[in-house]
Amino acid sequence: MSFLLVNQLSRIFDLSEPWILRKIKGQQKKLLKAVDKVNFSIERGQTYALVGESGSGKSTIAMMVAGLIKPSSGFITIDGYNFFSPTIENNIKSSLRKSVQMIFQSPYASLNPRWRVGEVLKEPIKAFNLIESENGQKQRVCELLEQVGLSERDINKFPHEFSGGQRQRICIARSLASEPKLIICDEPTSALDVSVQAQVLNLLKDLQKQFSLTYLFISHDLAVVSTMANRIGVLKQGILVEEASPNKLFEKPEHDYTKMLLSAAPDIKNVSKIP
Ligand SMILES: Nc1ncnc2c1ncn2[C@@H]1O[C@H](COP(=O)(O)OP(=O)(O)O)[C@@H](O)[C@H]1O
Ligand SMILES: [Mg+2]
Repeated sequence: MSFLLVNQLSRIFDLSEPWILRKIKGQQKKLLKAVDKVNFSIERGQTYALVGESGSGKSTIAMMVAGLIKPSSGFITIDGYNFFSPTIENNIKSSLRKSVQMIFQSPYASLNPRWRVGEVLKEPIKAFNLIESENGQKQRVCELLEQVGLSERDINKFPHEFSGGQRQRICIARSLASEPKLIICDEPTSALDVSVQAQVLNLLKDLQKQFSLTYLFISHDLAVVSTMANRIGVLKQGILVEEASPNKLFEKPEHDYTKMLLSAAPDIKNVSKIP
């Protein structure tokens, strides 16, 4: 069985005004199908990329996989477990919370500006009761900093003392703290300069090898995805319109929407593809 299985996943948002206003104005309910019967799966240690324009439903899928919002229909299993199953046991739920982590687009917005780096990285260690002793926690924080290319000298600094790329490294370190199996990367390099993007992508690739991580990698940028993914799913208005390996997708895109995304990324041919 695949490590991550997404089956007929849908999510509808209710955009209607309050009931009383709708009655006065004679309006119908306004429903938005943000995600519509999406199917895909990821094998352990592999990277699946979701691409699509802004508003195509990528983050909504990410949030459902992370267990943060509930599917309207369909289901997701991670290592065979469905977070939203009514019969799921609490200990399995909490182990899923530990093993699925998320990295967001804006590393500044996802870090508390008043917390020193050491506190940021200690928080998940404490929250999941991973290490009890103060000393052990500090050692683990130093280890995490090193794993993402920062140093233990950074432990007392605040987020604003780092560059954008370094801040994203802090977020990556925080996601690694609970020894996850699956990391959902939602546009992790979209807010970074191109030169820094490559460094962060390489770091993610190295960490994947080192810790056998599975990635759900989300981006609007096909060039970024081409260097990261084993499979790519193309999402348009909540519907997965095409799925293929990167080589196949770039050589022989089938759907018009994929062709349009490719033409919007003219430097794609210069990007080194995965072997
Ligand atoms: N909490 C929400 N309430 C209402 N509509 C939402 C909510 N979250 C997302 N949407 C809508 O769902 C659609 C998909 O959004 P999103 O998943 O964020 O797309 P993407 O990440 O691909 O840009 C958009 O039209 C967005 O406005
Ligand atoms: Mg998004």
